[in-house]
Amino acid sequence: MMRGVECSALPRGDGNRQVLADRDVRRLRNALGRFATGVAILTACSPQGGNIGLTINSFSSVSLNPPLVLWSLDQRSSYYEAFRDIRRYCINVLNLQQHRLAVDFAGRQGRIFGPQDWEMEAGSPPRLKQAAVRFECVPYAAYPTGDHTVHIARLIDFAASDAEALVFCDGRFTQLALQRAAV
Ligand SMILES: Cc1cc2nc3c(=O)[nH]c(=O)nc-3n(C[C@H](O)[C@H](O)[C@H](O)COP(=O)(O)O)c2cc1C
Repeated sequence: MMRGVECSALPRGDGNRQVLADRDVRRLRNALGRFATGVAILTACSPQGGNIGLTINSFSSVSLNPPLVLWSLDQRSSYYEAFRDIRRYCINVLNLQQHRLAVDFAGRQGRIFGPQDWEMEAGSPPRLKQAAVRFECVPYAAYPTGDHTVHIARLIDFAASDAEALVFCDGRFTQLALQRAAV
């Protein structure tokens, strides 16, 4: 047993049914939130017109050749249906100064593509100026899994800057503090 750790045995279900009590969901969310990630805003042209943007931290690399990445979408999202038809999107990895945008694009209000932050071009997903990295994506596969759908995308282009990337850990936006050591 690890010291200073709150342990929770998770009930064994049949894998498909909701088996966790709310208290266990909260604990599990906190435990998973200890895994630090970057933060991105995924943008696309909505099939209904206008633009879509949502904050994600489920982004991960999958394959270099072919170049594939994944992210997962909550099946309760108001954008869930739209991603059946979207044929291109952009994953904009936020820099350290862009935490306000992460909050704005995680709420139901305030998703404004202001010209000071966004490059807009008709027919293309909005691109975040000063993003740490931008990945241009086309859908490759989608797997409904539990209460999320895992989307796999093929990269068609990317642009990486040397801006420091924003970090999300323990439910907070933060930054890398350790001296970088080569792997
Ligand atoms: C840091 C952070 C990371 C998030 N990551 C995801 C994610 O990976 N997948 C997801 O579906 N929602 C994620 N969300 C939540 C969505 O941004 C938010 O719930 C959604 O945009 C709410 O609007 P909707 O219901 O209209 O989609 C995240 C929110 C925050 C603040």
